[in-house]
Amino acid sequence: MKKIIVANWKMNPKSSKDALALFEVVKKSVKGIKEIEVVICAPFAWLAKLSPGNLIRLGAQNCHWELQGAYTGEVAAPMLSDLGVEYVMLGHSERRKYMGETNEIINLKVKAALKSKLKPILCVGEREGEEMSVVIEEQLTQCLVGLSIRQIKDVVVVYEPVWAISTEGGRVCEPDNALSAALFIRKTLTKLYSRFVAEQILILYGGSVDNTNVACFISQARMNGALVGAASLDGEVFSKLIKNIPVA
Ligand code: PGA
Repeated sequence: MKKIIVANWKMNPKSSKDALALFEVVKKSVKGIKEIEVVICAPFAWLAKLSPGNLIRLGAQNCHWELQGAYTGEVAAPMLSDLGVEYVMLGHSERRKYMGETNEIINLKVKAALKSKLKPILCVGEREGEEMSVVIEEQLTQCLVGLSIRQIKDVVVVYEPVWAISTEGGRVCEPDNALSAALFIRKTLTKLYSRFVAEQILILYGGSVDNTNVACFISQARMNGALVGAASLDGEVFSKLIKNIPVA
């Protein structure tokens, strides 16, 4: 299975000049690496300025659930496709926390994304003190309601325990924990679809991933890649991270 590394730039960098410079560093670091797909999820304001290539794809960090209309300040999924964007992150814990996004809203957004030929990167994961399996089962079941087998194959699932995100305390998620979550996600997807379908879905890990731990999450936790926040904003660290990914 291919490996995907998703860079979540969040609301960074501050200027288009810095965004372009960071993008150029990433572009250089993926040269010659065919086994890994690198997706840069940049703020809307920078997306139009970045040009994707064969080895580097663009992703948005959100989209609206309607395809167009009177929704002041929002961005619709077809507008993103039109820009050459291929992926959209949905259900990130910061959007759940600060924007009040529920599983029902995320489900509508997943459907809008798929209708617009965008691949949803669906984030799931428990907060401190919550039970991983209970939260993941509920989030996956509700966020994926009504998706066909053909559609689910385009969804990438990210296990991101909220307590492991660098800005939320960044507690270490042991590869064993991440492996249990990956197995549980596949089990839930098997229940919702079938084992055959579940095995084709890419599952990534997110939460304080950097150049020193990325290999563990991929080899020990059997993840198909990673979602990287803070470490994706430092061109040198992110380039090292890409080089440290086991591709065999
Ligand atoms: P982090 O962020 O890598 O800085 O922990 C991950 C995320 O929130 O997507």
